[in-house]
Amino acid sequence: MGTSTLEKVCSLALFIVLFFVVLATISNGDSTSNDQVDALLSWKAHLQYSPISLLNSWSITSTNDSFNSSIQPQQPNTSTSPCNWFGIACNIGGSVISINLTKCGLQGTLHEFRFSSFPNLVYFNLSMNSIFGTIPPEISSLSKLAYLDFSTNQLSGEIPPNVGNLSSLVELYMHNNSKLNGPIPPSLRSLRKLKVLSIYQTYLSGPIPQSLYGLTKLTHIHLQRNQLSGPISQRIGRLKSLICLELWENQLNGSLPASIGNLRNLEILYIRDNRFSGRIPHSIQNLKKLTMLRLARNQFTGNLPQNICHDGLLQSFSANGNHFVGPIPKSLKNCTSLIRLTLQANQLTGNISEDFGFYPNLQFLNLSSNKFYGQISPDWGRCKNLLSFVISGNNISGTIPPEIGNLSQLGRLDISSNLLVGEIPKEIGKLASLGKFCLDENQLSGEIPPELGSITQLEVLSLSSNRFSKSIPRSLGTNLLKLYYLNLSKNKLSEEIPVELGMLSQLSVLDLSYNNLTGYIPAKFGDLQSLATLNLSHNNLFGVLPTTFEKLTGLSYVDISYNRFWGPIPNNRAFLSSPMEALEGNKGLCGNITGLKLCNDPVPKERRSKAHNVVRLVYIVVFPFIGALLLVAFFVVYMFLRRRKKECSQIEEIEMISEKGLFSIPNFNGKKLYEEIIKATEDFSSTYCIGQGGIGTVYRAELPQATVVAVKKLDGANRTFQREFLNEIRALTKIRHRNIVKLHGFCSHRRHSFLVYEYLEKGSLNSTLSNESEARELDWRKRVEIIRGVADGLAYMHFDNFPPIVHRDISSKNILLNSDYKACISDFGTAKLLEQDSSNWTAVAGTFGYIAPEFAYTMKVTEKCDVYSFGVLAIEIIKGRHPGNLTSYLSSPLTRTSVTLEDVLDDRLPPPRLEILDQLIGILKLAVACLQENPQSRPTMKDVSQILSTLILNS
Ligand SMILES: *[C@@H]1O[C@H](CO)[C@@H](O)[C@H](O)[C@H]1NC(C)=O
Ligand SMILES: *[C@@H]1O[C@H](CO)[C@@H](O)[C@H](O)[C@H]1NC(C)=O
Ligand SMILES: *[C@@H]1O[C@H](CO)[C@@H](O)[C@H](O)[C@H]1NC(C)=O
Ligand SMILES: *[C@@H]1O[C@H](CO)[C@@H](O)[C@H](O)[C@H]1NC(C)=O
Repeated sequence: MGTSTLEKVCSLALFIVLFFVVLATISNGDSTSNDQVDALLSWKAHLQYSPISLLNSWSITSTNDSFNSSIQPQQPNTSTSPCNWFGIACNIGGSVISINLTKCGLQGTLHEFRFSSFPNLVYFNLSMNSIFGTIPPEISSLSKLAYLDFSTNQLSGEIPPNVGNLSSLVELYMHNNSKLNGPIPPSLRSLRKLKVLSIYQTYLSGPIPQSLYGLTKLTHIHLQRNQLSGPISQRIGRLKSLICLELWENQLNGSLPASIGNLRNLEILYIRDNRFSGRIPHSIQNLKKLTMLRLARNQFTGNLPQNICHDGLLQSFSANGNHFVGPIPKSLKNCTSLIRLTLQANQLTGNISEDFGFYPNLQFLNLSSNKFYGQISPDWGRCKNLLSFVISGNNISGTIPPEIGNLSQLGRLDISSNLLVGEIPKEIGKLASLGKFCLDENQLSGEIPPELGSITQLEVLSLSSNRFSKSIPRSLGTNLLKLYYLNLSKNKLSEEIPVELGMLSQLSVLDLSYNNLTGYIPAKFGDLQSLATLNLSHNNLFGVLPTTFEKLTGLSYVDISYNRFWGPIPNNRAFLSSPMEALEGNKGLCGNITGLKLCNDPVPKERRSKAHNVVRLVYIVVFPFIGALLLVAFFVVYMFLRRRKKECSQIEEIEMISEKGLFSIPNFNGKKLYEEIIKATEDFSSTYCIGQGGIGTVYRAELPQATVVAVKKLDGANRTFQREFLNEIRALTKIRHRNIVKLHGFCSHRRHSFLVYEYLEKGSLNSTLSNESEARELDWRKRVEIIRGVADGLAYMHFDNFPPIVHRDISSKNILLNSDYKACISDFGTAKLLEQDSSNWTAVAGTFGYIAPEFAYTMKVTEKCDVYSFGVLAIEIIKGRHPGNLTSYLSSPLTRTSVTLEDVLDDRLPPPRLEILDQLIGILKLAVACLQENPQSRPTMKDVSQILSTLILNS
């Protein structure tokens, strides 16, 4: 649609220019060209940068009006006109009617542009430059302007209401100015002739003004990717000329008005990623020209409309991530025009072989996580253009038809979590483009066909939880050189692990657990240089573990439990730091690990007996001593707590938890802290407010001796806290990690409940990134460090605490920076606690745009949700703003390649130097792995943290 719109726009613009040229010859040409020359030259002089080559015609001396200069060489100035200058066109009267400086590399503001000198201007195009600053209200003097294009610049501030005076305007383009903010001015009501309104990917907020619905000539509305909120009015039905309505990625809500059915010319209705709810009105079936209907990720309910594909026009239909129930639209069966159909994560039902037809153009199909049943029709094999075929998480039965092997373009095939039986047809081996192949959790059996080795593009192969038997084919190792994820766990595979698997140099995750594999681990596994996770547990493997594991420095997780291994643990960090559960159930492993016996002690005999004596001394003398000390300490702490409790209870039941000696003030107790905080914040006066979080308001409190803390006052005062809640808070105060905001204490009082945190000077990462100068201060190196810090903090909370603590709401708002730009994660643990314990509080369930996709349908929060949010955050830090839609491109191997490095680097910073660039690319790869749809495929935070630290060390 891009090109056709562009063509329309261009021809329209040309027509308008010609029309006004004719008109202008009849009307005035009175503004003197000297005034216009002055105006243009003075603007040029103020531009910070303009390429000499383009604008060198903009000068008085270089008028190439050869006739004038040869006859009257003495007076070149009198006859100067800008009409021959680059990008300028005039009417016959010599007055400028068109300024076209698109993509000229201009840098500067509009404030020196003298709008009043161009009363006849019809066409004004400054798109794709670096114009910054605000749009001056004087723009309103361009009363004849029909075409205005300021798109793709760096304009900021609000759109001045005076734009409403441009009453001749037909096309208005201001998209791609990320700092343009404020509301859509209601004064646009006067733009009666407006056909195209294109202000997307800016930062507009507030509702869609009612006045917009009066602009009945509108054909194109592009307001996607803003912060618009509120509903779409019933009055939308008046915009009968509308062809394209794009409102995606905003925060619009309410239901879709029935009057939308009046928009008989509508071809594109693109409203995904908002907060719309309610049922889809029946009238939508009147939109007979629809080619694109995208409703994904809203909160729509009820049935899907039945007639949405008319005359084979519909090309793209997405309804995924809503609460739709019932059957799929009947009209889809015959809809041969379909290119993209995504219905995943709803509760749709129907027989997959009866309700779908044959789609020669279809490229993307996703029906996963619904309640479809029936068998996979061989007809799917005729959809030759399919790139992605995802029908996981349904009740699909029967076998995999061999015809699937005809889908020669297929990049992703995911039929996992269904009820499939039978064998994998060997024809699957013909899928030469396949990158991701998942069949987990079915009842498939037989051998894994060696033909899978022909799929040389394969990156992910996941066949776990089936009934595959016999051996692992050698061809997987010799041919699949791009494989980075191989999961064959929970099958009935037997015989030895083929040595050839050691050739998979890209392999990062290898899971062969819960099979009946036997023999040794091939020493060649030491060549798996990318390996991070290895699970061989619950097999029949035996022998000594190969010492070649020492070479695998990237390995961070191993599980070899329940085999028959013996001998020493390899000298590898992952093995040496393994918990006992990952090693237990073997025959005779040894090593310097608690729970294992030491290997053949190499210490000579006499020395050993000496050492033995030392050990005995330790037993006899030191231990009792330590024991006594512990007892005394315990007693002291106990008395202290008792005393403190008493003091607290004296003042209106304060439950106070805080570190001892926190403020290095003697006798500083709970009651005193409470009083100091009330005093320091003048009873929570708004003067001290420094932020608003999901669960309360944050204040800065300066305590005696210049100790500054952040106090989060919880919403909802009159609450009583359960003992378990207080215990958990107490546990959180004990957590110490350099990348986690310290929770100093908690106070529950009749009047207020609050959490006391470490105070971080620079505030949130979100505010730093959205501030131009602060964002520039945050150079590439600092950003890499911040990403690493967040990863370390998360890994610590997930792995070094038991049970693991999941944050649930990782976003740039929750990352705080200290004066050295060290990143600290805030609100760890409390989000979950508070929700669990809440009846009337706002439930905290993550921030829009960071939530892992599975959360939408499982509502289950796991560590992998944090991993996903981390992926979004990492890209955001590199890009300087929330990546938005980019995450969905990046999460698919098919679309990933279309994203260029320029798309993800913050353009406010100078391009990174080479070694930093390497790190950034490494981080992006990791972030992409974190964004994978299947939570199991994402790396753990421990993997991420480890990979990052080697990445940073190695460059
Ligand atoms: C404006 O300039 C660009 C680049 O020079 C050109 O492609 C475009 O056709 C021009 N537009 C009009 C309406 O003259
Ligand atoms: C599908 O199309 C065929 C021929 O174009 C037509 O005969 C049939 O009625 C259509 N079926 C449905 C369900 O629209
Ligand atoms: C595992 O394999 C061995 C032979 O290697 C066989 O004797 C045994 O029955 C198998 N166990 C299962 C559960 O299939
Ligand atoms: C075992 O490990 C500890 C700490 O890692 C070390 O201090 C000690 O020397 C080791 N003992 C042997 C026998 O290697």
